[in-house]
Amino acid sequence: MTTILGIETSCDETAAAVVLDGRTVLSNIVASQIDLHARYGGVFPELASRAHIEAIGAVVEQAVHDAGIGYEQVDAIAVTRGPGLVGSLLVGVNYAKGLALATGKPLLGINHLEGHVYSLWLTEPGREIKFPALVLIVSGGHTELLLMEDHGLYRRLGGTLDDAAGEAFDKVGRLLGLPFPGGPNIERAAMMGNAIAYKFPRAKRDDSYDFSFSGLKTAVLREVTVPPTGGEGRARRGDTPRLRADISINDVAASFQDALVSALVEKTARAAKAYQVTEILLAGGVSANQALRQRMRAEAGLPVRYPPLNLCTDNAAMIAAAGHYRSLSGLRHRLDMDVKPMWPLTSETYTR
Ligand code: KG4
Ligand code: ZN
Repeated sequence: MTTILGIETSCDETAAAVVLDGRTVLSNIVASQIDLHARYGGVFPELASRAHIEAIGAVVEQAVHDAGIGYEQVDAIAVTRGPGLVGSLLVGVNYAKGLALATGKPLLGINHLEGHVYSLWLTEPGREIKFPALVLIVSGGHTELLLMEDHGLYRRLGGTLDDAAGEAFDKVGRLLGLPFPGGPNIERAAMMGNAIAYKFPRAKRDDSYDFSFSGLKTAVLREVTVPPTGGEGRARRGDTPRLRADISINDVAASFQDALVSALVEKTARAAKAYQVTEILLAGGVSANQALRQRMRAEAGLPVRYPPLNLCTDNAAMIAAAGHYRSLSGLRHRLDMDVKPMWPLTSETYTR
């Protein structure tokens, strides 16, 4: 039995959780900064670090308290080491180091993407996940298609060449004047819209498993904004695009979501066949999207698993779950561990 305390501060959620054996969530506290960043239409890094500093002490205390344990029962402290915003990562990592020093517990620096992968192990604690598993991580910062051959063994099949899927949702949401974050608000608008009202570009037609969403974002921009009139007809830097009066926000949201989901489903379904996996695992903030879940299930013709909504977006339970498997394989970090703002997830992630 392991009891892992997880800490996550890579972006705009200050989170701590206690997880038993990498599968059972004893407590899961998330202090969201959404309200703080909403007025800027995106995450403001400097403000994020300050808010983490203010929240972290109480969040960790609450997680330990809610789990009904004391620090002496914690076997290891797992903290997100990267990828993420450097100032935000430093807050969690320094707090975890302080705790490790004070309690004498081992410190584990965990990859945030691996955390998203292990959110799947928290969904149905009694059910085994069979390898090889195909994992699609779709979040605000990442779009990664991975073949997971065993615990810790990842083959990267593809990923985004430009914007992450969640980033595309957020940018189009901002363009349409919807509140931040764009993803859930576009999904809500799309439910009332017509997905074939607008024709937006879909998957890149090639043999790769890579994605590209910047063309889709530009196509939406062209479709919904008033063409610039100043100078030679070109927009000036800093101009805010003006929305055309005759567009339907709901129809644009539905058509955009449909195009983006099509790209994700088409390539993931093709990879699932090519690598003969028996199920598809979705993780990350965008895996909360119902259209993605439903179409993946229908079009891949395979069981599709995804975390409950509160474990799709950033949380520390997933970091503790990944920490459990890493602690079994002997990972330990020294107290001079640095943060890694850029840190891809591969089989060599922890050895380099
Ligand atoms: O995993 P996450 O909390 O943070 C990162 O690690 O990036 O993902 C946040 C992203 C945001 O871009 C947000 O718009 C998107 O997930 N998101 C959604 C939905 N809920 C959150 N995108 C589409 N549909 C949703 N229901
Ligand atoms: Zn994330």
